[in-house]
Amino acid sequence: LNTHTFTALSKVDYNLGMVRENIILTGFMGTGKTAVGKALAAQLGYKFVDTDALIEQRAGQSIAEIFRVEGESAFRAWEAGVAEELAGGKEMIISTGGGMMLDRENAAHLAQTGRVFCLTASAAEIVRRLEHEVEVRPLLAVPDPAARVSELLAQRASGYAQFRQINTEGREIAAIAQEIRALMETETIAVSSPEGPYEVAIGSQLLPHVGQIAGIHGPFAIISDSNVGPLFAEQCKGDWLLTIPAGEANKTLATANALYGQLLDCGFDRQGTIVALGGGVVGDVAGFVAATYMRGVDFVQCPTSLLAMVDASVGGKTGVDLPEGKNLVGAFKQPRAVIADLDTLVTLPAVEFSAGMAEVIKSGIIADPELFALAEAYAPQLMDPSGRAHELLTSVVSKSVQVKRDIVEADPFEHGRRAWLNLGHTFGHAIEQVSGYAVRHGDAVAMGLVAAAHLSAELGFCDSALESRIGDAALGVRLPIRIPEQLEAEALLAAMSTDKKRVTGRLRFVLPRAIGEVFVTEEPQPEQVLATLRHRGAG
Ligand SMILES: NC(=O)c1ccc[n+]([C@@H]2O[C@H](COP(=O)([O-])OP(=O)(O)OC[C@H]3O[C@@H](n4cnc5c(N)ncnc54)[C@H](O)[C@@H]3O)[C@@H](O)[C@H]2O)c1
Ligand SMILES: [Zn+2]
Repeated sequence: LNTHTFTALSKVDYNLGMVRENIILTGFMGTGKTAVGKALAAQLGYKFVDTDALIEQRAGQSIAEIFRVEGESAFRAWEAGVAEELAGGKEMIISTGGGMMLDRENAAHLAQTGRVFCLTASAAEIVRRLEHEVEVRPLLAVPDPAARVSELLAQRASGYAQFRQINTEGREIAAIAQEIRALMETETIAVSSPEGPYEVAIGSQLLPHVGQIAGIHGPFAIISDSNVGPLFAEQCKGDWLLTIPAGEANKTLATANALYGQLLDCGFDRQGTIVALGGGVVGDVAGFVAATYMRGVDFVQCPTSLLAMVDASVGGKTGVDLPEGKNLVGAFKQPRAVIADLDTLVTLPAVEFSAGMAEVIKSGIIADPELFALAEAYAPQLMDPSGRAHELLTSVVSKSVQVKRDIVEADPFEHGRRAWLNLGHTFGHAIEQVSGYAVRHGDAVAMGLVAAAHLSAELGFCDSALESRIGDAALGVRLPIRIPEQLEAEALLAAMSTDKKRVTGRLRFVLPRAIGEVFVTEEPQPEQVLATLRHRGAG
């Protein structure tokens, strides 16, 4: 009987629960605030409040009458009163009059109760939508309403720009409501770093909002690879797209060099921001370029592989490979923001998803038993791209990011605790290397995690059941755990002894004590390591 899986299933609940904050809709008249607001209210079971309707009710006259009789300033006073009153409420969708949120105090009152979204559409589209309402819209009671709309839009552009923009043109109400719900369910994790704090946003439909989520002001260049660029770059609305060929073989100085040249050709300067859109290879190269181009420009990570989301994009390490070895040239470069759009994972090949899960399982073993139990209990759901519940994926990614965050915050430059992240990697790197990189990184890490548990149990540091528990978790996400027997134990041991992470003459390992607790030790003797390697399948 597999008891640990049973406890995991009965205890673990990945549902993060809906956020019950207010949703405040702003934007020009005719952008769909009422229709979208009502759809959201119905879906979420929230109360729908239209500030103009509320004012008409309170004033006992129509907005047009208030404007005509008492003037615009009287109307603005009504708005201020309503903003203050609504600031006390919960679970509301508040559709605000077009100018209401442009007032600093109104915005402050309402924004503290929830999140603000600004619906947008072009002037031409707005005029078309309002064709039949010109009489009841006092601002449009002019000879040329179209010119008036353009003029007002231009006046308000900078005011609206402070809010998250949602384009409504050519879209169904349901799709717009869905995008807003996705943004409401975005999880954010704050990370502090030597170069200042930044946030990791985890959610869906985030790529169209990259500029705003990351707070990018100037122009931005997207660096992506030949697989990811064609799939997702357009959504990000960058000023330039630079595409590198996909694959680890291209994580080189030559690629960085080509990117420098292309950035110069674009006229890209220090005002610009580099946005990495892709897996860990893109993140590492683009980050290295951002760290070095013109002595450093702003950098944003949009990881699209599970491995990049849970591991490579957080922590500030960037770099390229040399013919002599991986990651031998690099720099620390902290991102301004990390934006993990989970929707991108749908196209990620299954083997790449499994590779990411190896790091997830590793993070669980290092510091989060609940995360480990999630990977254990929900492996089939996680491995099915169409059956993955959004909350499950959000939970797995955010818990993994938190484990990494806690470690890199405590040890930003890799002097101590950051070594924990090498759990399973001392064995894993040796396996990759001795196989001539025929064994993939994620697979090698899975083999390494199980080997670490075996070695730890042999030395009396952990329960002997840990080895099979970790092994089962890895098998559940389709990771192999037996070391191929063509790999000789002696050769693997020799490779471990030359690993660049070795500091003293002795072999140094990160070993598990239990799920959620690891430690660093130099106790293992070469014979014990050899015995572990052979036990795990090595020749
Ligand atoms: N900087 C760090 O702290 C850190 C940590 C761990 C790993 N890394 C580095 O990360 C790299 C591995 O990252 P990786 O596993 O993401 O490799 P990768 O970037 O090569 O991506 C794997 C493959 O998946 C494709 N891909 C990525 N996202 C996709 C998507 N959404 N849809 C379809 N295809 C997609 C890529 O084009 C590539 O072919 C290694 O170079 C490693 O050294 C860095
Ligand atoms: Zn790894």
